Parts: sequence; structure tokens; C-alpha cells
Amino acid sequence: MRTVKLDLGTDSYDILIGRGVLAQVDRITALLPQPRVAIVTNTTVAPLYLTPLQAGLEGAGVQVVTIVLPDGEQYKTWETLNLIFDGLLRARAERKTTLIALGGGVVGDMTGFAAAVYQRGVPFIQIPTTLLAQVDSSVGGKTAINHPLGKNMIGSFYQPKLVLADLASLDTLPAREFSAGLAEVIKYGLIDDLAFFEWLEANIERLMARDTDALAYAVERSCQNKARIVGEDEKEHGVRALLNLGHTFGHAIETGLGYGAWLHGEGVAAGMVLAARASLELGQITQTDLDRIIKLIAAAGLPTIAPDLGFERFSDLMAQDKKVDAGKIKFILLRKLGESYIGSLTPTVIAAALQAGCSADAVASSAA
Ligand code: NAD
Ligand code: GLY
Repeated sequence: MRTVKLDLGTDSYDILIGRGVLAQVDRITALLPQPRVAIVTNTTVAPLYLTPLQAGLEGAGVQVVTIVLPDGEQYKTWETLNLIFDGLLRARAERKTTLIALGGGVVGDMTGFAAAVYQRGVPFIQIPTTLLAQVDSSVGGKTAINHPLGKNMIGSFYQPKLVLADLASLDTLPAREFSAGLAEVIKYGLIDDLAFFEWLEANIERLMARDTDALAYAVERSCQNKARIVGEDEKEHGVRALLNLGHTFGHAIETGLGYGAWLHGEGVAAGMVLAARASLELGQITQTDLDRIIKLIAAAGLPTIAPDLGFERFSDLMAQDKKVDAGKIKFILLRKLGESYIGSLTPTVIAAALQAGCSADAVASSAA
């Protein structure tokens, strides 16, 4: 088992990574202020992993309430959030009752948000079961739901007490979802870890084959990168924004196509290519760099061409981004391969990147 620590003073916590860590209920029980938890999961994950977790906790004398949500990004809404509150109130969950998020990023983001506001804040634990959630969304305390006009627009920073990333849960993850997680893994290499980017180039086939050692290393290194950046800038006043590489374009794709049509990781992948194309337009990376990025993203089974929403629609959707400051859209761009910065783009550069990196065909082919 590997442990990564996220250092946030009194809000510090461990991220445990390894096959079988889900069975380590003692790590959970040690943190509970009362022997009561509410496990929030969804209709896909519940039949796979709820019973062993629930049985383990009950065996340790913990009273367990379960709340099973509908599955899908399109359910990351106020209405679904309310189902969590319904379940908590019906079970008379108290301030010391701990919420446990068992699932991917959608369950994790919604459960975290519910924990942040239920009775003004209750403890919560993340048990991420997708690659994306293990390398990104379960770590760092961003919680949110979507609004029809903008992705993750309603939320809160609220840290979990523990993250348990069981690599064995990835055995049941569909290939498309696994690839979506690799988008966020590649992101860490591009942001500020060239050595990791090069390791990914050399090991992408092992990762795609879900080799246990390669996966454990990739999850650990991703969490180390994320923990370092969040440890420096928990509330995203500066450097944490770099973790949004590709997300300004990617969120526009997700919202523009309708939540769930493209997976979050797919939007991020195509968005990172657009950000790289803009960086090429600015003369900061070379065509060879761009080709390497596209090759790695394609080898991870991800889209490298974005759907052609049109310049006007892209601009409109990107104007809703959380990085917009005084009406100006901020982009995460590459100064060189493995080094990023927060900058802005002229409409001419955005148009050139979209012209080179979008296709009407990408809309239809994405979800195939
Ligand atoms: P997801 O939660 O929708 O999970 C993907 C699919 O896999 C779902 O159908 C889910 O039920 C299923 N699933 C989960 N675990 C499984 C398993 N072990 N076996 C089989 N199926 C399984 O999607 P995701 O990619 O995990 O997360 C995407 C979400 O995370 C987006 O809403 C995105 O905005 C959010 N996100 C948040 C942060 C953050 O910092 N909070 C970071 C990145 C992404
Ligand atoms: N996923 C971006 C962040 O956590 O800041």
C-alpha cells in the first residue's frame, strides 16, 4: 500500500492507494466521531462494492445508512443532491455522522458538497472507484454540482478526512471510463512534471493493459502532484488553477453537448490539445511538442479533436468559466512541454486553435 499525505495543517489527510484498501475499515473507523456513517453511492457502483464495505463497517460495530443515487453526469444536480439530504434527514443523521462517497467523481463531488452543507458541515470520506476520481476528484476538496448554464458552478471547497483508492475497483471499470481517467493523469505531466510525461509516453501501453505496478505508480505520482499543488494553494488563488489545463475548453464541450454526451476526461483531453494548439500559435511550444501530446492522448484512447461547436458558442460557454476575472477568460497554457502558466488569449488565437482542432465529425464519434 502507498500513502500520499495532503498537508493542510489541521485539515491534513492521507490518501491510501493499493489493491484491497477498501477492506481496511479500521482506517475508517479510527476517524469516526460516532459509530454512524451514511454511504452515498449510485446504481452502478452499489451492486459492485457496497455490500463488502457495508458488511465490513457493520462488523466493526458501525451503524450504516445507504443512499443510492441515479448514475450519470446529467444527475449531478440540485434534485439529486436533495436525495442525499432526504436520506440523511429520514435516517436522522447527526452532525457527527460521517458521509462516505463510494463511486466516481460525480458521487464524490455531490457527496462532498452535501457534507459541506448538511447541518453546516459534517465529516466525509472519499472512496473513489474510477481512475479519474482516484487521481483527481477525490483529492483536494473541490465539491460541486452542475447548473444547466455551467459545469460545477455551484459548490464549495470542503476537504475529506481520508481517501481510500482501491486499485482493485478499477478491474470493473469500462474501457472508456478508464481512458477518461488517463486524461487527468496526462494533465499532471503537462502542467509541471516533464519526467512523468516522459514516463507516460514510455508506459502508456502498460497502463492501457492495467498493469498493477504501472497503475499504482501513475495513481501515486498523480496524487503526489495534486497534493503538492493543493497544499500550496487550497482555495485556488493562484497555482491551483494550473490543474485546470484543458478544462476551459473541456467544460465548454461538456456543457455545449449536454452533460454526459462526452465524459469529463474526454472533454479535458480534447481541451488540452486545444490549449496546446493555442500555445503553438503563440510560439511557445513546437509542432514536435504538439505531436507528442496528441500521440500520448490518442494512445490513451482519448479524443484529440474537439466537437465543432463554433467560435461563438465556444466563446459564450467559456465566458461562464470559474477562472473568468473581470469578464476576461483565463486559460492554462503551455510555456513549454511540462511547464504551464495562467494566461489569456486573443480571439484570433482562440479561433486559430479551434479551426485546427475541431471537427463536426468529433461530435458523433465521441460516444461510440
Ligand atoms: P463518474 O462518476 O460518472 O463515473 C464514471 C462511470 O463509471 C459511472 O457510470 C459510474 O457509475 C461508473 N463506475 C464508477 N466506478 C466504477 C467501477 N469501479 N466499476 C464500474 N463502473 C464504475 O465519472 P468520473 O470520471 O469518475 O468523474 C467525473 C466527474 O468528476 C465530473 O463531474 C467532473 O466534473 C468531476 N471532477 C471533479 C474534480 C474535483 O476536483 N472535484 C476533478 C475532476 C473531475
Ligand atoms: N481538478 C482541479 C482541481 O482540483 O483543482
